[in-house]
Amino acid sequence: MDNAREAAIKAARSAGQLILQKMGNNKIDQKGSFNNLVTDADKAAEVIILDILKKDFPGDEILAEESGAGGSKGTNRRWLIDPIDGTTNFAHSYPFFAVSIALEEAGKLQMGVVFNPVSNELFWAQTGKGAWLNDKQIKVSKISRLQESLLSTGFSGNGSNIERFKHLTSITHGVRRDGSAALDLCFIASGRTEGYWELKIAAWDVGAGILIIQEAGGQVTDMDGNKLVLTDGRFNIAASNGQIHKEFISTLAELQAAKTK
Ligand code: IPD
Ligand code: CA
Ligand code: CA
Repeated sequence: MDNAREAAIKAARSAGQLILQKMGNNKIDQKGSFNNLVTDADKAAEVIILDILKKDFPGDEILAEESGAGGSKGTNRRWLIDPIDGTTNFAHSYPFFAVSIALEEAGKLQMGVVFNPVSNELFWAQTGKGAWLNDKQIKVSKISRLQESLLSTGFSGNGSNIERFKHLTSITHGVRRDGSAALDLCFIASGRTEGYWELKIAAWDVGAGILIIQEAGGQVTDMDGNKLVLTDGRFNIAASNGQIHKEFISTLAELQAAKTK
């Protein structure tokens, strides 16, 4: 697994360098809807990552945002790759985005790397080896009340999350909407925030960040508090420092119940 981590870090740094070079000078296209963007940098960064990983691990399965599912089904390993998590930010030169790369073995996350090339922050985790930010080990915060928590969320391209956003903003220290799920998760892992939720997220957005939170002592489930399964499709997620998880999940459940009344 150390080899996989080294390859993922090399791939994330190489992709990050290209992304920074292209910031402010990229061609923007739409994927389906007007606010689902892709740039030439997303595609070029994914090619860089895939070239590095396929060379070292030719037998592995791949799920990458821009090229979809691929690779061989011969091993029980799957790479989850998001070349730019935070494409809308990147397309506007809003400096908050990251490269996210994770590796699962037999359906279990084993390694995750999230690299923010703007701040040069490299978050990584490996099962049993803790979570790290550059060369420092990171831990989730000790805050135990939702009321004292700073949260984050995202909108997956639509507004169906707005009531939760409104209510949780009014009962916590606030809810950030920064536009990169991978970094949202890493911010919990490093104790900068306490919780994050989102509907209809994809495995490539959150694979690496989930392991980074878990190895930092936090908790990740679906929005009902059940085990999260990283499917090929879309799913709901709730992540926290673990301390607030129960209260966070029950608040999300109350909001869901109020919505369906
Ligand atoms: C998006 C970001 C955003 C989240 C969206 C994702 P992308 O990823 O993670 O924070 O709210 O759900 O799709 O499209 O920038 O890779
Ligand atoms: Ca993403
Ligand atoms: Ca992306």
